[in-house]
Parts: sequence; structure tokens; C-alpha cells
Amino acid sequence: MSFQQIFNKPPETEASAPGRVNLLGEHTDYNDGFVLPTAIPQCTTVQLGFSSDRQHHFYSENFNEQVSILDINYTPSGFASYIFGCIEVLQQAGYTIPSLFVYVKSSVPMGSGLSSSAALEVATLRAIRKLLNLPINDVEVAQLAQKAEIHYAGVQCGIMDQIASSLADTEHILFLDTRTLERRVMPLPDGAEIVVIDSGVPRTLASSGYNQRRAECEQAARSLGVKALRDITIVEALEILPEPLRRRARHVVTENNRVLEVLQGVSSQRFGELMNASHASLRDDYEVSVPALDTLVDMLQKTPGVFGARLTGAGFGGACVALVTAGEARSITTRILEQYNQAGYSGQILVPSWEL
Ligand code: GLA
Repeated sequence: MSFQQIFNKPPETEASAPGRVNLLGEHTDYNDGFVLPTAIPQCTTVQLGFSSDRQHHFYSENFNEQVSILDINYTPSGFASYIFGCIEVLQQAGYTIPSLFVYVKSSVPMGSGLSSSAALEVATLRAIRKLLNLPINDVEVAQLAQKAEIHYAGVQCGIMDQIASSLADTEHILFLDTRTLERRVMPLPDGAEIVVIDSGVPRTLASSGYNQRRAECEQAARSLGVKALRDITIVEALEILPEPLRRRARHVVTENNRVLEVLQGVSSQRFGELMNASHASLRDDYEVSVPALDTLVDMLQKTPGVFGARLTGAGFGGACVALVTAGEARSITTRILEQYNQAGYSGQILVPSWEL
């Protein structure tokens, strides 16, 4: 069903934003650390119109579901909470938002760790910015989107997903220092391309250990007397911490160092080794992997033509990312998927994308 069919008039405007896949720098953003995401081809599109009944009406094509906000004290759940959150944070920032018809459709896989929620938030904010001509830049869009996610979707996330959705493209990787927001756009490693395979094991971020991991990191930083774990660069400094804080902090410190090594310029081979080390650290020290992700990563790492592979996003399920020899993405992913599904899973190739 189109906007016209749902709301009986054409949209006034529309905007889109992509999902993202993080290549390196996992669980570092809320520690003021470094990340290396890139945009994926799948995106979310938001169309807007003015509603005349003084109520917001949101429609999701993916869920074929309509939500009307009759009372502004009512906070919706599901897809509507992200849109509602964006409207609320704009209002808190001093903008007057009229009643809206909002139509959403998305090709970003949900629950795979590819930031479908950030894509929805950034697309919503971009569309409202366009509709009302608001003087908000792309970094501010990301910051407002993060605020919406924290306060209305209940995830104590960092800024990576929203910055990636707002600023990254599919041709480059985006280095981001999450403390200073200093950025550098970098080419993909030489002769390499990215593949993403979903493990088929769903991941529920809010109910997972995400907020708990974040709290552990903050506790570790307090015990070490630093503002954030970003301020620690050598693992020996972590010896005074009790377990599991020491393991958690060791992941963050080593992961930041891996991203900084890439920033110096590394071969595809080395980039892949750093991704493999990142997975081991997320599995053993940060404990956010699950058997399905370990199986998939292991199959990828053993396949000729794969430079390196790791889980991507928060973990606890979702997708794996790998760096493979350019030109071999389709043959490698097809082969791995067959092998993985024969082991009893129901994985899916997400990048390269066949549908787009
Ligand atoms: C989620 C969060 C991000 C980041 C990653 C883990 O995607 O939204 O802010 O913390 O997990 O790297």
C-alpha cells in the first residue's frame, strides 16, 4: 500500500537513510573509542505529509501496521516509538512540529545488527528537516537520532550507528573518534570487498546484555580513575581490575588499538587478521557471541579468499561481516551459506544484496 492509499493524498516530501555494517571497533563507542563502519546498500525511506486532525499517524509498510498518536503523553512501542522519539527530541530542541502523516518502508534487515533503527531515525529526521526547512546539520541529525534511541527505544547506545547512517556511504569506510567526533573517510582495503551474512539467530538488543556491558565498562573506568576506557591504551594497566571487569576492559582497549592500527594504513591481509582478533576478543573477553555466530565466523575464516571475519553490531545473534577478495563475494557467500545451513541453521546473505 502506498502513502496515497493509506492517507488519501500524495506525500509532501521524502528522505532515505542507509543501514550500516561495522568493520572494526565494536562496543567501543560508548567508551569514547574508535569505530570503522560503512553504509550498506539497504535503506529506509520515510514519506511525510501534513495531518489535519491534530494527531500524528504513522504507517509501516513492512509491518502493514498503522499507529495513531491520539494523546501526546502516550509513548508508542515498536516502529512507531522511533518516529515518535524523533518528533519529541526535535520539540525538546525548540522546534514546533505539526501533526504528521508518516509512511515508512525499509529494506534494512531488522534484528541483524545492521542498524535498522538508526536508519529509521535518520530518515525520519532528514524528512522532517526537509519538510520544515530546519537548520540542522548531519552531525546534529545523528545526535538527535541517538537521543531518540536512548530515551524512547530504551537502549543506552553510543553514537556510531546514527553517525554512520547520517554520514557514511557504501564506497568508503568511515573512521570516527566517538569522543571528539573527528572523522576520516577511507577507501576499502585494496582488492577487497565486504560481505554480510545473517546467522538467522535473532538479537534483541534492549533485553540483551548490552546495557549491562556498558555499565561494566563505566564501572571499570571509575575504578581506573579515568573518564572512559578510551583513556587506557595498555592492557597491563587493567591488572588491578577484578573479573569480569578486566576482561571487558581488555576487549575495549585492544579493540581501540586495532582500529588505530587500521588508521595507519594496513593491507587487506592485516585488516582481516584484525577482524579475526576482534571476533576472538568479543567472544572470549566481552562474551557477546553465541554458538551460531562462532560457527559462521569459523567457516568464513577457513575459506580461501576470505581475509577475515567477525560478528558485527552488538552481538548476541545477528550478522557476521567478512572482508573477501574483490570479485569473489557472490561465490564465497553462496558456498558458505550452503555449508552453514547444512549445519542446521537458517542463515541469509545480506551483502552483496540480490534484491537492490
Ligand atoms: C549497537 C549500538 C552501538 C554500538 C554497537 C556495538 O549497535 O547501537 O552504539 O555500541 O551496538 O559496537
